[in-house]
This record gives sequence, C-alpha cells and structure tokens, in this order.
Amino acid sequence: MAKSKVDVLLGLQWGDEGKGKIVDVLTPEYDVIARFQGGPNAGHTLEFNGIKHVLHIIPSGIFHEQKLNVIGNGVLIEPRIFQDEVNALTEKGVDATKNLYISQKAHLILPSHRMLDAANEQAKGSAKIGTTHKGIGPAYTDKIARNGLRVGDILQSDFRERYELLKCQHVQTALSLHFDLKAFRIDGMSLDEYEALWMQSIETLRRFRLINSEYFINRCLDEGKRVLAEGAQGSMLDIDFGSYPFVTSSSTITAGVCSGLGVAPSRIGRVMGITKAYCTRVGAGPFPTELFDETGNTLCQLGHEFGATTGRARRCGWLDLPALRYACMLNGVTDLFVTKPDVMNDFDTIRVCTAYDVDGKQITEIPFEFNTIEIKPVLQDYKGWKAELSHCKSYNDLPQQLRTYLDAIEQETGVPIMAVSISPDRKDVLFK
Ligand code: GDP
Ligand code: IMO
Ligand code: MG
Repeated sequence: MAKSKVDVLLGLQWGDEGKGKIVDVLTPEYDVIARFQGGPNAGHTLEFNGIKHVLHIIPSGIFHEQKLNVIGNGVLIEPRIFQDEVNALTEKGVDATKNLYISQKAHLILPSHRMLDAANEQAKGSAKIGTTHKGIGPAYTDKIARNGLRVGDILQSDFRERYELLKCQHVQTALSLHFDLKAFRIDGMSLDEYEALWMQSIETLRRFRLINSEYFINRCLDEGKRVLAEGAQGSMLDIDFGSYPFVTSSSTITAGVCSGLGVAPSRIGRVMGITKAYCTRVGAGPFPTELFDETGNTLCQLGHEFGATTGRARRCGWLDLPALRYACMLNGVTDLFVTKPDVMNDFDTIRVCTAYDVDGKQITEIPFEFNTIEIKPVLQDYKGWKAELSHCKSYNDLPQQLRTYLDAIEQETGVPIMAVSISPDRKDVLFK
C-alpha cells in the first residue's frame, strides 16, 4: 500500500473555532486521530444524539470505537484531569483504554505547575494573561528548561524523588513571588490534598498503552493508514506568531505537528483550518474587532460563547481578515471550514474587518506592536441572510447572502471552503 501523509485540522483564530466537532465529523475518513500540542487548557465540544461531550486532551476521535487515538509527545498531561476525562467517558459507555495510546515523551503537569501558573498570573497583576490556570506555561517552561517529568518517568523507580525535587523548586519560585501557598486551592483543595489525589491518578495513566508514538505514527503512515492531527487552541495563540505575550505556550500551527508527533515536514498532507464566521477570544490580549455593544452581547448569548474549560464568557467581535490571512499563511491551509454562521441568522448586517487603521494609515499585516498600539478595524458590510439554516441539508441550500459572505472569505484568504457547520450537532456539517 502507498505511504500516506498526516492531514491536519487546526484553529485559525484565538481557539474555540469548533475543532472538536469537525474532528469528530472527519474521523470516519481516518484510522488514527492524534493530538500534538496543548493540554487541559483545551476544551473541545462534541454533540450527537442530543448529548454534549467536552474533551480536554483526549482526541476527538474517541467516540469512534474502531479508530485509534494518540496523545503525542507535544501534549501536556495533568493526570488528575486526565482521570476525570477518562471516567466521564466510562460513564458514557466509552472505554478509552481500548483505543487511546499515549506518548511516553508527553510531559506531565504537576500540581505545583498549577500553583506556579496562579503565582505568575498574580505577580503580573493587571498585565496578567488570563490563563486557564491549568499549569500550561510552567509545565512547558520546565520542558524547555530540561527539568520536566514525562509520562514514561512514572514507570521509573526514582519518579517520586524527581517529583519532590521539582516540586521543591516550584515552591521556592512561588515564595519568591510572594505567593500565599497556604491560601492556594485546586478544586477547593490545598496543594497537599490535591497532590495525594494526583498521585493516585497516576495509576489511571498506567492502565493505558504508553508508546513511542513517533514510531507508531510513522509506521501507520508507511502502511498507508490515514492519520489526522487535531490542533488545540488557535493560530493567534501560537507561542511564536500569536499576540505575544498573550498566547499559550505551545506551537499551535502546522509546524507544531512535526515536533509534537515526530513526523517530517514532507509527511504533512492537507491542512484544514477552522474559523468561526465571527471572532471570539478568552483571556486578555489584543482583539481589534471586539464588540463592546449589544451586537457583541448577542453573539455571546446566541453563540453560547462561554469557555468549555473555564466557563468564562468569551469576548466576541467581527471576523478579522488580516488575522485570518496571517493564519492561513503560517499554516499553509489548503481547506477552510467555517462554523457558526447560524449564530448571525437574525442579523441585518454582518461586518468584516478587511484591514487595520493605525494612526490613519491602513495596514493588512499583523504589526509587531499588536498589543500596544491602537488599532481600528476597517469594516466592510455584508447583507444578513435573515433566515434559519436548520432546513439546509446541503451547501447549495444555504441562503444567497450567506453564500456571498462565504465567497468573500474564500476570495480574501485565497483558500477554498471545504464545509460549513450550522449547528453544534455532528450531523449539521455541509460539505461543498
Ligand atoms: P474547540 O475548542 O475548537 O473544539 O471549540 P469549543 O468546543 O470550545 O467551542 C465551540 C462551541 O461552538 C461548542 O459549544 C460547540 O458545540 C459549538 N459549535 C460548533 N460548531 C457550531 C456551529 O456550527 N453552530 C453553532 N451554533 N454552534 C457550534
Ligand atoms: P481550545 O483548544 C481558547 C487561552 C487562555 C489565555 C491564553 C493562555 O479549546 O480552542 P494557557 O492556560 O494556555 O496558558 O492560557 O490562551 N487559551 C484558550 N482560549 N481556547 C483554548 O483551547 C485555549 N487554551 C488556552 O484563555 O488567554
Ligand atoms: Mg475550546
């Protein structure tokens, strides 16, 4: 059989574009679904048969029993959160131990990483990032500083010793930041109480197949198996190209697939990028098209724009084409998915940002000073379609005004639209 390539599906905005739903829909086309970066900061929502599921680090192919799911080396695992995720699946009749493999090289998030996340945020004061408090920044920091603990280490006899050493360093750092360790709580528990549960949940990890996932994935490709890499967060939260420092700590773009799964650039196939028909962002940082008015509130309410991980209200605004074009360029997007146009069914006018106005000058590139300068969006109006979409069973059923809007997105990005999603449910994806 001919060798195959890894297809990629990732977010082109600030996260929450609907990645989980689309991966679930695409899973029947693939043999393996693999996460390559991020950790439990992600919240990927899937809906089918009237039930909603939220996944954090388990790939969104998990509901398809015959498909394999892989947590790659680039992902961060918080064993306690992972255990909760596994248990939630068990309650729904899904036994993840059967079709989920985990890289031994994936790094662990310790309870004290979560403490450091809170300490760092507190120390930043009004400049805080608004992280998910899941320990992402500190755990990736330890990885890069070559201090981290990895999944494979749980099988070693000196694991506890190395854990204590790292924790001790974290406590010192937190104290140097004048952080109140005694008052710190995770899920209402003190650090010590939570640590005891965290240690127990290591046993859950041991029940899974811990593999050298880079060999596994490459072997799958050699055998012609189809592999889909599932992104977390979004391109504008990328550590290098996002709105730094208001970003996450991983490489969220296509390049991250290579280092997060151990596949060569020449083995990357299609790159499917997802964008909402508007924009959202959780946490702090620049957001040129943000709406502070009733329209923004309507997008938030009708789009149920509340974080799947933290429950925080998401900031909402119009679609940002300079940011979308940037994301398409960085990722080499070959196909676009557009989600949630249905949220704007009642809108008279839909606006899109085509350029940024900086001091009266129009620019279309994301400036280095993204965080610090005042950016006014240059907006273009589109006529709303003022119709329900629920009756649409194919792309051609979509109202003309919506088609005009979608055509404009294709033209502005130079990337063809592959499909449009019109509800949270698995069945409502209309392929072009
Ligand atoms: P992810 O992090 O990219 O997987 O996205 P989230 O799950 O955090 O957020 C997307 C939200 O939008 C979830 O609540 C989905 O159920 C919902 N959703 C996905 N696609 C659509 C759609 O086409 N229309 C509507 N109304 N909701 C959608
Ligand atoms: P999914 O995969 C939206 C945001 C946080 C914060 C910043 C840094 O569901 O799209 P972190 O905890 O990573 O250090 O926080 O990144 N953030 C997300 N926003 N969706 C996500 O994941 C996110 N993961 C992190 O809100 O602004
Ligand atoms: Mg999400």
